[in-house]
Amino acid sequence: MRTIVITGGTDGMGAALARHYLRGGDRVAVIGRSRTKFEALIATVSGEDPSAAARAEFIAADLSLVGDARRVVDRLSAGYERIDALALAASFIRQRRHATAEGHEASWALFFLSKYLFVTGLAPLLRAAERPVIVNTAVPGARPDAIDFADPEMTSGFTFKRSNAQQRRANELLGILATGDNPGLSYVTWGPARLVRSGFAGEVGTGMRVTAAVLGTLLGQPSESAVRPIIHLIDAPEPGRAAYRGAAKLALPAGDHDEKDALRLAAAVEAGLSSNG
Ligand SMILES: NC(=O)c1ccc[n+]([C@@H]2O[C@H](COP(=O)([O-])OP(=O)(O)OC[C@H]3O[C@@H](n4cnc5c(N)ncnc54)[C@H](OP(=O)(O)O)[C@@H]3O)[C@@H](O)[C@H]2O)c1
Repeated sequence: MRTIVITGGTDGMGAALARHYLRGGDRVAVIGRSRTKFEALIATVSGEDPSAAARAEFIAADLSLVGDARRVVDRLSAGYERIDALALAASFIRQRRHATAEGHEASWALFFLSKYLFVTGLAPLLRAAERPVIVNTAVPGARPDAIDFADPEMTSGFTFKRSNAQQRRANELLGILATGDNPGLSYVTWGPARLVRSGFAGEVGTGMRVTAAVLGTLLGQPSESAVRPIIHLIDAPEPGRAAYRGAAKLALPAGDHDEKDALRLAAAVEAGLSSNG
């Protein structure tokens, strides 16, 4: 029985993955904020397979909080001997800069710091799996210069576009750190081929909300079909880094400075974490 850990596993694509792997007989740890959503998910799957509830664990956490992300890593490290697949799919879209109670910029904390803590903190459990895989739902292809190493939390000059590009680039560089540490690991940055009709959790302006709702209804694909390529990547992992849009493999964005930038990023993140908790 594999152990699959899914952040954002209570809704949207994360929940579609959780349902799939529970139906397939795997053990699934779901991380999110809403126990009610988790219980609804379990009720759906248990109707088909009563053993599902015993194979599922819910860990409530607000992953925009570093303290919560660390607590989840500790909980997983204490409770599991290995992790076969880690799917990073927690999402809460903020159009404006927002500081968390810990003082971190909320989007950077959720879309990158929590992933950094999971990928580095869970490395021993991933190393214990025969064919470990991380699928990070960060759309690949951001500009190589998208990170402001001097001010990754964007205390000045925050825009949604800059923040989004920066976390996407950082999540690509995170793959260099993860596979450098564990060459047997498959690390995939993945974005859907087209819009997905999912929860779209977030605090956004009316324009973005209406556009997402209209386009999602007209053109969006259901989460269940959107995650099919992710399921393939988890079930047949290939060691090393890769980038995908839907089922299409992309050339990995590669620059001369990637390795150096990955180390620079780790140093900036560690400095930010030690000064800010
Ligand atoms: N939908 C699209 O078209 C699209 C396009 C490009 C990329 N993506 C990426 O695909 C991934 C999944 O997106 P989605 O649209 O399926 O998401 P979604 O339906 O909005 O679901 C978001 C999930 O994240 C959890 N979550 C939100 N804030 C959280 C927090 N602070 N701490 C912990 N969990 C939190 C939610 O659970 P709770 O409510 O329980 O907290 C929920 O399970 C994301 O990385 C997103 O950026 C999606």
